[in-house]
Amino acid sequence: MKNITLNIDKVTGFVSREQILALEPQVKRAQQALEEGTLPGNDFLGWLHLPSSITKEHIEELKATAQTLRENCEVVVVAGIGGSYLGARAVIEALSNNFAALLGDNNGPRVIFAGHNISEDYLFELTEYLKGKKFGVINISKSGTTTETALAFRLLKKQCEEQRGKETASKVIVAITDAVKGAARITADKEGYKSFIIPDNVGGRFSVLTPVGLLPIAVAGFDIEALVNGACDMEKNCAPEVPFEENIAAMYAATRNALYADGKKIEILVNYQPKLHFTSEWWKQLYGESEGKENKGIFPASVDFTTDLHSMGQWIQEGERTIFETVLSIEKPNSSLTVPSDEENLDGLNFLAGKHVDEVNKMAELGTQLAHVDGGVPNIRISIPELNAYYIGQLLYFFEIGCGISGYILGVNPFNQPGVEAYKKNMFALLDKPGYEEESKAIRARL
Ligand code: PA5
Repeated sequence: MKNITLNIDKVTGFVSREQILALEPQVKRAQQALEEGTLPGNDFLGWLHLPSSITKEHIEELKATAQTLRENCEVVVVAGIGGSYLGARAVIEALSNNFAALLGDNNGPRVIFAGHNISEDYLFELTEYLKGKKFGVINISKSGTTTETALAFRLLKKQCEEQRGKETASKVIVAITDAVKGAARITADKEGYKSFIIPDNVGGRFSVLTPVGLLPIAVAGFDIEALVNGACDMEKNCAPEVPFEENIAAMYAATRNALYADGKKIEILVNYQPKLHFTSEWWKQLYGESEGKENKGIFPASVDFTTDLHSMGQWIQEGERTIFETVLSIEKPNSSLTVPSDEENLDGLNFLAGKHVDEVNKMAELGTQLAHVDGGVPNIRISIPELNAYYIGQLLYFFEIGCGISGYILGVNPFNQPGVEAYKKNMFALLDKPGYEEESKAIRARL
């Protein structure tokens, strides 16, 4: 089995290899702090050795629950937001057919998402779509009290019970939440839902390899064992005892910190496969919520190429030189399609005849890399041998451990998110939530 690889050759014209390697002591300190739990955030390190601690029995239990949902539902709605949503969506989209939503095949239920916005139109259209359908729900919330998710779940629970009866509904609603606290736990216990626990020491954005990600991925019909195996192999490949220069997560963390110190404040995650759009969304949350604090942190952005070369390409080529790119490059496509020859050649594309479409994509990728480097944009390249569950598992763990190391190099606690409370406090005050009377008065005085 091959591995994901990291190439920083196109960075060293901006920061030297020596500058990156000089960060080894900080990397070692970060790795040691993660292993020994000696820095702030040490109560949220359950993800660190999670892949290697997942048992066969746990996988079997997840697969059995997934099978129940697959057998009894045409649609499964996954309700969750942030870390309780993005990992599952990232993996499902990466592994699904681009046109899965239109195919309507009979390969298990359609998995759709809710609870990640408060759009009346979205929720109305969702309830309309679900009318008359045999649907189930996976309600995911670690706190069990997140407004977006709780609101969607209230609607979905009611509709499911009305359409399928309370008894059947209780068999096709699954909760993934805290072991004891929160409204989602109280409801699950009262209604007798099958439930899974999100470990206390795993934060939302690091929870994709818990049931939060694994159950929806299994319901969508993908191989969670292969995903976990990939993560497990990456856990070994990125262990602290692996020499710095061979440890791709350590090198990634060091490289991005060296670039940040050199004034590169924005990292753009680039893909050349539309299926990776939500992988970028997951990555943005992972790095943004982990590092953006104390007025520090690289801003994580993303683009889908070549699509966005026709929109953001101009900015990247010639805008303010505060960016670097990290490219996710899939070495081998899963399908085969060549450009046909055309006798008339009206479009002038016969020079491509016989070539694989992927070869054209790869030349776009190479040409873009060189152009952007020429334009002053350092380029990190992550090569993924193939888009399958095993390599996605490798990629997820690579980014998680890279994030833990990087956050500690930066000098922040990568495992809290105090900043996300501010909007909630204002929203609750504006909605007159009981307990927010003083805040309500204060905020209204500002309007
Ligand atoms: O990473 C995080 O901690 C957050 O993004 C949470 O996952 C998100 O806010 C949802 O929280 P909860 O799972 O408690 O509903």
